[in-house]
Amino acid sequence: MKCLFITLEGIEGCGKSTQLRLLREHLAARGFDVITTREPGGTPAAEAVRAILLDPAHKALSSTAEALLYAAARAQHVDELIAPALEAGKIVLSDRFADSTTAYQGAGRAVFMETIQALHSIATRGTWPDLTIILDLPAAEGLKRAAAGGAPDRIEQEPLAFHERVREEFLRIARAEPDRITVVDASRPVEAVSREIREIVDKRVGLR
Ligand code: TMP
Repeated sequence: MKCLFITLEGIEGCGKSTQLRLLREHLAARGFDVITTREPGGTPAAEAVRAILLDPAHKALSSTAEALLYAAARAQHVDELIAPALEAGKIVLSDRFADSTTAYQGAGRAVFMETIQALHSIATRGTWPDLTIILDLPAAEGLKRAAAGGAPDRIEQEPLAFHERVREEFLRIARAEPDRITVVDASRPVEAVSREIREIVDKRVGLR
């Protein structure tokens, strides 16, 4: 089997982290060598960049600086962790990747899509997901769930209209790349969502 790079994407409160954990357990139980990671982050330097990006104190951070920092964290993540793991034959599951930059910085912040594409090319150098699952739910519902998880970070503090643009962009990306991306209705109970994700992934890893 070809090694696989799988990403989970979606707005705040869509349940990615829980679903990533359940998917890892499912694949590990079937004998796959699987690692989980997240963006921004996944390595010590990229986690340090994450702390800057999410700190509500950095209100003055410009859209361009923000996009560059997400790309910088991704470049480190790809070079230090993702590419070597794929080369070693592992399945890599990442909580967010480049589609988040397209959605949040491209649609949310209105950074030029040409700039976003250039950043993707520099940061990933061609390491790109084989399969992406977008967990979709209304932005208001996601923000409500996220608020239950504690104090909002710098991005969660953005208004509802920002998060609605992000959601619409994720859905647009999914329509544009149907072979790579599947949208899953995340407004359902955890187990129903998890079952659908397992079915999608099992087909790709040859379990069905
Ligand atoms: P998380 O809370 O899902 O871990 O994600 C961190 C936040 O960073 C979340 O609000 C989405 C945002 N984000 C971007 O704006 N651009 C990106 O490229 C990534 C990876 C995350």
